[in-house]
Amino acid sequence: MASQELIQKLENTIENIADFPIPGIQFRDISPIFLDPKLYEEVIEDLVNFSKGKVDAVCGIESRGYLFGIAIAVALQVPFILIRKKGKLPPPVISEKYDLEYGSAEIETRVGQIKKGQKILIHDDLLATGGTTEAAAKLVEKQGAKVVQFSFLIGLKDLKGEEKLKKFDAEIYHTLE
Ligand code: PRP
Ligand code: ADE
Repeated sequence: MASQELIQKLENTIENIADFPIPGIQFRDISPIFLDPKLYEEVIEDLVNFSKGKVDAVCGIESRGYLFGIAIAVALQVPFILIRKKGKLPPPVISEKYDLEYGSAEIETRVGQIKKGQKILIHDDLLATGGTTEAAAKLVEKQGAKVVQFSFLIGLKDLKGEEKLKKFDAEIYHTLE
């Protein structure tokens, strides 16, 4: 559980931009966090505490999921696996299509990097509709691994993304809403 102090610092740092990238979307811009290395360290510590001793590997979702995901994996001393947008990774890959809060997309991961039976943390910066994370979890489970945790910096409550993740029977954590 993040401290009230960390939550407050993040609320003061993350910028909320109305009607970006399309009308009706309230965009949460996390980029100011990276201007403050101390705050970044505190965020990583919070996310690492959630996963310590519980996972064999971390899967991060392109691109903002890499900003924290790699640091989490290094701190846990476990492998980090890239889940990328279609067409970026060399073959062999497996793919999954999904819908976004705005638009639709397809993600891929390289076959063989996720090992059968591994306990996996899927990390992303933000949970909105849950479409991206659900597709990532399907990619993981298609390869015989088990998603045991999902973590996010931000979980947007109104979009009910957590509903889509319930079927994976994994822990869900977000530092703030
Ligand atoms: C954003 C965000 C999550 C996803 C959340 O990524 O980083 O990956 O959308 O939306 P969802 O829960 O409705 O699926 P985006 O696709 O904008 O890519 P980016 O990280 O490269 O900016
Ligand atoms: N990705 C999907 N929805 C988003 C939002 N509201 N803010 C930032 N990134 C997002």
